[in-house]
Amino acid sequence: MLELDKIHCGDNCDLLGQLPRECIDLVVTSPPYDDLRTYGGHSWDFFGVAWQLKRVLKPGGVIVWVVADATKDGSETGSSMEQALHFKRLGLNLHDTMIYEKSKAHVFDPRQHRYKHTAEFMFVVSKGKPRVFNPIMDLPVVNSGVVHKVRQRLPDGSIRSDRTVTLGDWQARGAVWVYEGGVGHSTKDAIAFEHPAIFPDALASDHIATWSNPGDLVLDPFSGSGTTAKAAKELGRRFLGLEINPEYCAIAERRIAQETLELEAV
Ligand SMILES: C[S@@+](CC[C@H](N)C(=O)[O-])C[C@H]1O[C@@H](n2cnc3c(N)ncnc32)[C@H](O)[C@@H]1O
Repeated sequence: MLELDKIHCGDNCDLLGQLPRECIDLVVTSPPYDDLRTYGGHSWDFFGVAWQLKRVLKPGGVIVWVVADATKDGSETGSSMEQALHFKRLGLNLHDTMIYEKSKAHVFDPRQHRYKHTAEFMFVVSKGKPRVFNPIMDLPVVNSGVVHKVRQRLPDGSIRSDRTVTLGDWQARGAVWVYEGGVGHSTKDAIAFEHPAIFPDALASDHIATWSNPGDLVLDPFSGSGTTAKAAKELGRRFLGLEINPEYCAIAERRIAQETLELEAV
């Protein structure tokens, strides 16, 4: 077993092989997107990683797979969708296809012959029904207190409306999550920007809060600058980060240690 609450430097397939089966509650991760970035020239084995993730995930565990496609000859590769469908072929559920929308990515380039890409997939894959779902209730309800008749369209086209709910002050957000991506926005940790492709701190925290409980074990097999590990630690979860590039392992270790020092100083 790998030591918990650490970043382990090496190939993720090899390192995952050192974990016992069914020990992980939640994976929040983002693999390299096709060949968009080289990350120092290391390779990875999607089929091997997917198989290992299925093996180490507990029943009811969840994998959040954040991914987008490269553009080849003017069109998308489609590899992110192939990856999502492969998880299904392995016997996991494609529980939800969520979207990460980047609010600061709107520079249109007409030479690309299509609309500017401002979003990535967040595939939520589960081993059976997710054991934990703590929805984030941060969407204000305009007409709170009103009794609302729930209308459901049935397969034959008729409408069923035999249920009512009293609207509260807040409701759960939708499956499209908007963050300010990019340099200076994703995180306040300046050292994280030494990594070329981080995802926002809030994206990692929001998924960890939703799909796990305090004390659960959270894994990132493509740890990069350690965003998931740092968020897991802040939220009282155990964590494991796997990363092949020693420079990124050092960044992640500094981020996590920095957090500890800040907490101790309070
Ligand atoms: C998209 S980045 C992840 C960034 C991360 N989410 C963050 O916020 O910093 C993908 C990472 O996968 C790492 N990687 C590539 N091949 C790997 C392998 N075989 N084993 C472990 N990590 C690998 C790369 O070095 C890179 O840091």
